[in-house]
Amino acid sequence: MNSNSSAPSISLPPVIAIDGPTASGKGTVAIEVAQALGFHYLDSGALYRLVALASQQQKIQLDDVLSLAKLAAQLKASFANGRVYLNGEDVGDSIRSEAIGLLASKLAVLAEVRRSLIGLQRSFRQNPGLVADGRDMASVIFPDASLKVFLTASTEARAERRYKQLIAKGFSANMTVLLQDLRDRDERDMSRQNAPLQQVEGALLLDTSQLTVDQAVQQVLNWYSALSQ
Ligand code: DC
Repeated sequence: MNSNSSAPSISLPPVIAIDGPTASGKGTVAIEVAQALGFHYLDSGALYRLVALASQQQKIQLDDVLSLAKLAAQLKASFANGRVYLNGEDVGDSIRSEAIGLLASKLAVLAEVRRSLIGLQRSFRQNPGLVADGRDMASVIFPDASLKVFLTASTEARAERRYKQLIAKGFSANMTVLLQDLRDRDERDMSRQNAPLQQVEGALLLDTSQLTVDQAVQQVLNWYSALSQ
């Protein structure tokens, strides 16, 4: 073997990181981009929601940080055919409730919980590539992502989308309460010390207030294909 030859560079599968506030539509866009490219998909918010659900089931309080971090580190989460499982049980619908979203946002503030979920999130990076959505995909989990998108929409557009989603899933919903809830959650997600929601340097802004899902998906695909030209 030629001792002068440099070690082969190991290139990791490409990542498209899509960050944005709650109900911005980033999940829908991320899933469709992943499907179009044949990539894997990571819904990182679902992991925080699963920790929230599990903590509720086990009656662990928000101030019991050690138990919450342990719960997150041992999370038995799996994803298949668009469904989300906790300990093998399909919890895809129950983690979408507003109460669980709110609790997820509160425990996502805890650095210990965030740290416990890093390895699990990175394990989704597999060939041929990954589309990951969340709050800190570009800033913390995949800082070397090939494409970073900050996907947002006006608070009103997001509240309306969330309202329709909740009604379609059979939950009750009230627009005034939803608007306030979104504002509170944005405030908490953006102002927390650990991995706050932010448009990092190099992330492309995609405001979907006036866009259809197809248009938003196409924009991300165009940006991605432009990278290889
Ligand atoms: O995207 P979502 O609404 O399902 O996320 C639920 C909560 O989880 C959100 O309010 C903040 C938190 N979260 C986070 O802190 N970091 C992520 N990468 C994803 C979600």
